[in-house]
Amino acid sequence: MSHFSYRNGSLHAESVSLDSLARQYGTPLYVYSKAALVENFSAYANACKQSGRDDSTALVCYSVKSNSNLAVLNLLGKLGSGFDIVSGGELLRVIAAGGDPRRVIFSGVGKGRDEMRLALEHDILCFNVESIPELHRLNEVAGEVGKRARVSLRVNPNVDAKTHPYISTGLKENKFGVAYEDALDCYRTAASLPHIEVVGIDCHIGSQLLDDAPLLEALDKVIELIDQLAAENIHLHHLDIGGGIGITYDDEKPVPVGDYLGRLFARVDAWRKEKYAGKAIKVMFEPGRSIVGNAGVLITEVQYLKHGETKNFAVVDAAMNDLMRPALYEAWHGVKTVREQSGTAQVYDVVGPVCESGDWLARSRSLAIEPGALLALMSAGAYGMTMASNYNTRGRAAEVLVDGDRVHLIRRRETPAELFALESIVS
Ligand code: LLP
Repeated sequence: MSHFSYRNGSLHAESVSLDSLARQYGTPLYVYSKAALVENFSAYANACKQSGRDDSTALVCYSVKSNSNLAVLNLLGKLGSGFDIVSGGELLRVIAAGGDPRRVIFSGVGKGRDEMRLALEHDILCFNVESIPELHRLNEVAGEVGKRARVSLRVNPNVDAKTHPYISTGLKENKFGVAYEDALDCYRTAASLPHIEVVGIDCHIGSQLLDDAPLLEALDKVIELIDQLAAENIHLHHLDIGGGIGITYDDEKPVPVGDYLGRLFARVDAWRKEKYAGKAIKVMFEPGRSIVGNAGVLITEVQYLKHGETKNFAVVDAAMNDLMRPALYEAWHGVKTVREQSGTAQVYDVVGPVCESGDWLARSRSLAIEPGALLALMSAGAYGMTMASNYNTRGRAAEVLVDGDRVHLIRRRETPAELFALESIVS
């Protein structure tokens, strides 16, 4: 169910009109629906529960990079989520949001020493290690702080996720993970290091996957490795299949989360029954987009209409610095008028004020608009605000969270002075 719908001719987030939010908080403005967040997270949590799993046998680690606002992290933490982080900064965010570091897993190909130390001091659940040099560095740092680092190796299963090349991560040519053929050797090395405790295996093959077949194929490959490791007396406690389930931006039909998890758990259970007398293995997930993507929109105001010979432009006050996805991936976001459309529509490219031809948010959309009209860029909850920048010395958008008829400002707008406050003039 969409939590963004028209009521009395005006687009609402739950019970609050986007019009009133724009008036109160200005534009560009990110608006999130709490009910949507809860519903999306619950699809994972309920599927885990329905398979008879509890906290010790299933953990959803929300991928912080997709939307890292403290209020979002706090809400998901309260719902029982763990967190998948990719930097020390994200760990500090999770902690600031009241999240439990012992439910944090640390992914990423380039972890620094300081980040490792910070994560060890906070006793995180697991490091997802992506290379042998990283393994050695982690062993060293753990030795320095007198701890053993719990480790999972990110294995690259060489599965084609059939998604945009920029967000496909499980192929041989990608920079991520340890090659499948090298994985056994890497585990042997890991098991021999004094400050490393081998606990799991993980993979993440890409993002915005509509079909779960590639994920189940990756699962089969991971299972094969776990069996080979067990034969060498290296026993893993968890398997982490990553995130990646897509959302509907336009007319895509992603596999429902419950269906995917159902199939995945059925395979895991059949395998454990056959090979391990039913002994459970903890299953973990790292979803981002499928939890926050359709829980957020970006509201922007039309500034000018330019009618050209070949094209019409709607120049709006949001730009590529607010929502990078169209410029970076030619991503498609729905555009809705906040007041239900009436009058004659024309075809527009929706563009921002930034001085780049790549600064567009949507192309060839039929819109009946005047200057001052409000537009909502749909499905902007994931990789929207987190990828925003201050290019052109533009303050980042404010963010609000709607809960029924209540509205919470969860990040205020940046002021221009804040943008250069850290800089100094050389005299
Ligand atoms: N785990 C790892 C190791 C990842 O690299 C990612 C995303 C996730 C989990 C979460 O994946 P999700 O469930 O959100 O698909 N900026 C791009 C997406 C980049 C995804 C990067 N990795 C976009 O806007 O489409």
